[in-house]
Amino acid sequence: MSEATPARTLVLVKPDGVARGLVGEVISRLEAKGLRLVAAELRTLTRDVAEEHYGEHREKPFFGPLVEFITGGPLLALVVEGPRAVEAFRALAGATDPVKAAPGTIRGDFGLEVQNNIVHGSDSDESAAREIALFFPKLG
Ligand code: PPS
Repeated sequence: MSEATPARTLVLVKPDGVARGLVGEVISRLEAKGLRLVAAELRTLTRDVAEEHYGEHREKPFFGPLVEFITGGPLLALVVEGPRAVEAFRALAGATDPVKAAPGTIRGDFGLEVQNNIVHGSDSDESAAREIALFFPKLG
């Protein structure tokens, strides 16, 4: 087989990325890579959805500020598809801390702060399935 079975991942252009006008840049990069858009919606998250999305970090000191940030303005939620989509998008995004992210990655090129790090990408196929079901129940 020349191409792996397509997989899906959830991508968020976070409120900082939307406010800075980086939506087009993020979509251009993932489409140029070969990932395909399956769903897209601009929305402001409720606190309930945000707390569920980041549930694994509930006990971390940054949880409260992270929920405030992610609910603080509209974000763009995307489902993208392609071979090893989770891994492929995380490579495009770069390290969580934008200062450590390699130049050429989205965070490495546009970010400076670990909270305001422009994009989110699911970290495993299991997380992707859970997050896609949370954001786009009809796709689940
Ligand atoms: S951890 O602790 O290693 O599990 O964290 P990590 O997976 O790297 O990051 C999870 C998300 O939490 C955000 N984050 C933070 N926000 C604010 N302050 C601090 N110190 C902080 N550390 C991590 C980070 O942006 C990650 O968001 P997502 O949306 O998952 O990329």
